[in-house]
Amino acid sequence: MSSKSYIESNRERFLEELFELLRIPSISADSAFSGDVRKCAETVADFLKTAGADNVILEETAGYPIVYGEKIIDTNLPTVLIYGHYDVQPSVPDELWDTPPFEPTIKNHKIYARGACDDKGQMFMHVKAFESMMQTNELTCNVKFMIEGEEEVGSSNLDTYCKNNKEKLKADVILISDTSMLANDMPSIDVGLRGLSYVEVEVTGPNIDLHSGVYGGAVANPINVLCDMIAGMKDENNHITIPGFYKDVLEVSPEDRAAMAKTPFSLDIYKSHLEIDDVMGEEGFSTLERTGIRPTLDVNGIWGGYTGEGAKTVLPSKAYAKISMRLVPNQSSETITKLFTDYFNSVAPKSVKVKVTPHHGGEPVLTPTDSVPYKAAAAAMKDTFGKDPIPTRGGGSIPIVALFEKELETKTVLMGFGLDSDAIHSPNEHYGVFNYFRGIETIPRFFYHFAEMNK
Ligand code: BES
Ligand code: MN
Ligand code: MN
Repeated sequence: MSSKSYIESNRERFLEELFELLRIPSISADSAFSGDVRKCAETVADFLKTAGADNVILEETAGYPIVYGEKIIDTNLPTVLIYGHYDVQPSVPDELWDTPPFEPTIKNHKIYARGACDDKGQMFMHVKAFESMMQTNELTCNVKFMIEGEEEVGSSNLDTYCKNNKEKLKADVILISDTSMLANDMPSIDVGLRGLSYVEVEVTGPNIDLHSGVYGGAVANPINVLCDMIAGMKDENNHITIPGFYKDVLEVSPEDRAAMAKTPFSLDIYKSHLEIDDVMGEEGFSTLERTGIRPTLDVNGIWGGYTGEGAKTVLPSKAYAKISMRLVPNQSSETITKLFTDYFNSVAPKSVKVKVTPHHGGEPVLTPTDSVPYKAAAAAMKDTFGKDPIPTRGGGSIPIVALFEKELETKTVLMGFGLDSDAIHSPNEHYGVFNYFRGIETIPRFFYHFAEMNK
C-alpha cells in the first residue's frame, strides 16, 4: 500500500486524533492553563510513540517541555528534523467565537478551533505523515521531532536546549509547517520571516489619579502624552521616524521587487475579506512589500485610566502600551530595541516619566531557493498540487529559525499549508480539511525527493 492510500483510508481517525489535541487548551501565555500545556505535551508524545517513533521523551526545561522523538533507520541516510509547536495563543475574547475555541467543529470543510492552523493542525500533519510512511515502508530519511510548547511566548528555553543538544539535534534540514501559502490552488513556500522587537512602555504623570476637572489642563495626562509620542513615531508617509530605524534594512533589488510584483495577489479580495475600504502602509511600497520586505511599528495594546461602565472623571496617573516592531534582514532586534528605547526616552516631555521594558525578540531570516531542501519541498508540492510553488516572504515571525541556523548550523525549509485568511491568533481560527490532508500527503513526497537529491 502507498502512503497516499493509507492516508485515504485513515482520514476519519486522522481528524479525530487532531481533535483530541485541539480540545486541550494549551495556552502558554496564561499560567492558569499550565496543566493543560503539560497535558498537551504528553498527548503529543503518546501520538509520536504510537506512530512509531523511538526514544520519545519530554525534555524538561525551565518552562514547558519539548517533545523529542526520532526514527533512525540508517545513519547513511539524510536526517530531517521536524520542528513545530503544541502551544497556542490565548482564545480571548471567547464571545467572538461562533463555536467554542476548544471544541473543534467542522463547518464548510474547515476545522474551527484555537490552534487548528497555528500550529497543532500543521504540526500534527508531520506525525500522521510519519505514521503513514512507517506503515507503508516509505520512510526514506531518518527523522527527528522537536515539538515545543513556548513558541507563542518567545521560545526562550528552546535556545538553551538547542545549545546543549547540538549532537542530538544534528540533521541535514529542519522542516517546519507553521506558515501560510498563497491559496489552495496556488502553492507557495515562505523564504523569509520577519524578526521582532517587542516592548512594553509605561508613562507616569502625577503620582495618583486626579480629578480631571480640578487638575485637567494643568498637569500632563499620561494617556494624551503616550498617544502623542506614538503618533510621532510615523510621518505623513507612514515612514517610521525613530532615528536609525532603517539603517540596516537590506534593500531589495529592483529585479527582486519586479519578481515580487508578479506574485498572484488581489488587493480587492484582500480588502473585501477584511471589510476595509482601503489599506494603509508605508508610501512607495505595495501591500505584499509592506508585509514581506519592510519593517513595521504597531501598537498591540494600549490602556490606562477609567475603562469601566459609565463615566468617571479622572486624570490618570499612568498609561501603558505594548508595541511590536517587525524586522527584516539585516536588522537586529537588539539594536532596534535600543534605538526605540533611546528615542522614547528622548521625546518624553519633562512632565512625565517613562519606562521601556523589552519583551522577547527574534531575528529575521531569509532562506535560499537554490538549495536542496527548497528544491525538495518544491518538488513535493509540485507532486501534490500539480504546480510549482511560488517563493514568498511571510510577514510573521518564528524567532527560533534564525537560532537554528546559528546554533545548529542547519538550513530550514518553511513548507506551510495554512492560509493568511485562517484567522490565526484571532477568534474563529480555522484550518481547511483540504489543507490538513494535502499537507499529510505532501510531507512523504518531501522525504522522497530529499533522499533522492542527497544520493
Ligand atoms: N506561526 C506563526 C508565525 C507565522 C504565521 C509566520 C504566518 C508566517 C505566517 C507563529 O506561531 C507566531 O505567531 N509567531 C509570533 C512570534 C512570537 C515571538 C510570539 C508572531 O509572529 O507574532
Ligand atoms: Mn505558529
Ligand atoms: Mn502563532
